[in-house]
Amino acid sequence: MLVRVDFNVPIEDGRIVDDTRIREALPTIQNLVERSARVILITHLGRPDGQVDNAYRTTPLAERLGELMGRPVRHLDDCVGPSVEAAVTATRDGEVVMLENVRFHPGETKNDPAFAKALATLGELFVNDAFGTAHRAHASTVGIAQYLPAVAGLLMEREITTLGRIMTDPPHPLVAIVGGSKISTKIGVLRSLLRRVDRLCIGGAMACTFLKAKGLEMGRSLVEDDQLEVARSLLASGATLVLPLDAVVAPQARPGVPAKTVQVDAVPADMTVLDVGPMTVERFLQTCDGAAAIVWNGPLGVYEVPPFDHGTDALAQGLAGSDAQTIIGGGDLVAALQKQHLAERMSFVSTGGGATLEFLEGKVLPGIAVLRDKDHA
Ligand code: 3PG
Repeated sequence: MLVRVDFNVPIEDGRIVDDTRIREALPTIQNLVERSARVILITHLGRPDGQVDNAYRTTPLAERLGELMGRPVRHLDDCVGPSVEAAVTATRDGEVVMLENVRFHPGETKNDPAFAKALATLGELFVNDAFGTAHRAHASTVGIAQYLPAVAGLLMEREITTLGRIMTDPPHPLVAIVGGSKISTKIGVLRSLLRRVDRLCIGGAMACTFLKAKGLEMGRSLVEDDQLEVARSLLASGATLVLPLDAVVAPQARPGVPAKTVQVDAVPADMTVLDVGPMTVERFLQTCDGAAAIVWNGPLGVYEVPPFDHGTDALAQGLAGSDAQTIIGGGDLVAALQKQHLAERMSFVSTGGGATLEFLEGKVLPGIAVLRDKDHA
């Protein structure tokens, strides 16, 4: 079984900082091992640009997976070629093998058919469990499906089912919370969610563009002037948009800088909005009251720099006790929630970053489109 996983995890000084993506793929791998399959794992790590780069070897990933599974995972030094084929042929039933970073070959990101075919010769069936990479039309996510029957893994299935329900059959009342810095990167998801949700809360620096579009002064905050028209049209669309009432401001986003909370109509000219204030958190929580489901994408402030993580943390604390289904839309927000161990208190945390965003925008993800069971997953 050739299994594409997304083990593109953050690594610092050779240490895996967050192994969530590895843990989330365990059910698929374990299920196959229990059925005595020979499991050949394919992943990318980082963006090594088609060249061997020791910093991006998959060795630590194989080691970590071995620890989690309580059994050795053999690591191969390449992902295609005669020596890899020989090693794969010698694999025993129930064994797990991890190939070297598939992005060490330029054919991967170019979706080169010859490279996809070389990968495909290593197995008889292809299981794609890499939801986080499903938005990339690469050899190991799309090309390979030309040569082998391709089906979804259990993680892929869970992601498609949970996020797919929001898109096709959303429970109501449905509330969305969208944060992050730029409208320009979130406009697709905002438009798509607005068609599906009952109420939409906007946080992050993005909210400043909306507030400015309403005529408020945002000091030195990150405002996208070229998106003011977009913000105005969304505000005029009749959708229930919930904007911040107060904000935490400071001269800049540095630890230890003097910060204060102000009303959004009183942002000082020499200050930058770096987080939402407590009244906003309260307002967002009230908006979520009685919701059947809540979809949240993007942090509410500059969460990497305390104290500008308070708004995001406080909202997460409030939602952790909610009766609603809480769906966290991947990316930066997951890292923010993990700092306070709040991610595990949500109903569902997507393993995708860009993939989750594109899925929620309503785009067809190429890595899903090629799967035989995409409509049943
Ligand atoms: C991710 O981390 O979002 C995925 O692994 C995709 O990585 P990429 O943006 O380098 O293609």
